[in-house]
Amino acid sequence: MPTLIDPYQRVIDYLRVSITDRCDLRCTYCLPKSFKGFEEPAHWMTLDEMQRLVGLFVDLGVRRVRLTGGEPLLRRGVDTLAASLKRLPGLQDLSVSTNATRLDRMAVPLRQAGVDRLNISLDSLDSGCMARITGRDCLSEVLRGIDAAVAAGFAPIKLNMVVQQGVNDHEVEDMVAYARQHGLVLRLIEPMPVGDTGRATVGRDLTALGEALARRIGLIPQLPGGGGGGPARYWVDPHSGMNFGVITPMSQHFCAACNRVRLGVDGTLYLCLGQNDQVPLGRLLRDGAGDDELRQAILDGIAHKPERHEFTDRPEKIVRFMAQTGG
Ligand code: GTP
Ligand code: 5AD
Ligand code: SF4
Repeated sequence: MPTLIDPYQRVIDYLRVSITDRCDLRCTYCLPKSFKGFEEPAHWMTLDEMQRLVGLFVDLGVRRVRLTGGEPLLRRGVDTLAASLKRLPGLQDLSVSTNATRLDRMAVPLRQAGVDRLNISLDSLDSGCMARITGRDCLSEVLRGIDAAVAAGFAPIKLNMVVQQGVNDHEVEDMVAYARQHGLVLRLIEPMPVGDTGRATVGRDLTALGEALARRIGLIPQLPGGGGGGPARYWVDPHSGMNFGVITPMSQHFCAACNRVRLGVDGTLYLCLGQNDQVPLGRLLRDGAGDDELRQAILDGIAHKPERHEFTDRPEKIVRFMAQTGG
């Protein structure tokens, strides 16, 4: 069985694919309101091209694929793409990260397409606060979307809350209660300085906050590996079974356990979220490269995967924006 192993002996078995860089929201830490640099539609990988590239990664040992954006549910045919990816022999886990504004309509088609898991952004339960963060009054759409996902049978559903000091950090305990009540996994996330907007956001040290909260409300630490192969560290509530996690790229990075690479909407392979190293797989494909050549380009890329991000020491380094790489 082929395996992608990087120079630091990390097994790369998780591919995140940004299927559009467009979004119907403008979260302050992600997409500048004035942003004009979206990829030209002519450069977007078609669904067939994505299927081909993802298939090559799966040939090389990728077992988990996550569709991201921008907002992936804006891409027409996302359910068709999901259904055909799901048929790739060897793929074990197909997931989607969404802002949920379209989930009301899309939860059932995604479930029928075979999507295994959903992660949903929810930064606030206050409509005014949500509007200030996302650029528009979308809370009721998002909550309807979450309900539709639960009703469609997705489990676990993870809620992603990017915690910003003085903006939504006072809502953490309300979010814990909401997650507990709806049977969802809550994860608190430290904002990363990707692009102009991410840099202006002030986060909190969630290593400290998470531990203090877990102690206060009686959560038990979970062993590593319990949460779906991602970067979160989890606790569990022994009474309700609710899982709670923190994602701490700034206060305690998790790069030593990194298992992933990313494809941008134009087929660029990004080797690390917090570095500029990349391989123009989409361009090679459109220049007529065969499967062997593309597989070799993937292997060469993995052989140059950086050891870690540099958000903490060189925050000015990453000038692209988050929706380009899908977080
Ligand atoms: P699971 O498979 O469910 O564990 O997914 P995930 O947590 O990896 O995915 P999701 O799209 O929900 O991302 C949650 C947060 O983690 C987002 O803020 C991402 O930007 C961040 N994240 C995901 N992967 C990485 C990574 O490799 N490095 C860093 N620094 N952050 C990451
Ligand atoms: N830092 C941390 N997380 C971010 N996300 C978007 N931008 C950032 C950032 N600058 C998160 C979204 C979504 C996930 C895919 O990435 O909130 O939940
Ligand atoms: Fe859109 Fe997600 Fe970025 Fe918010 S975090 S602007 S929902 S891509």
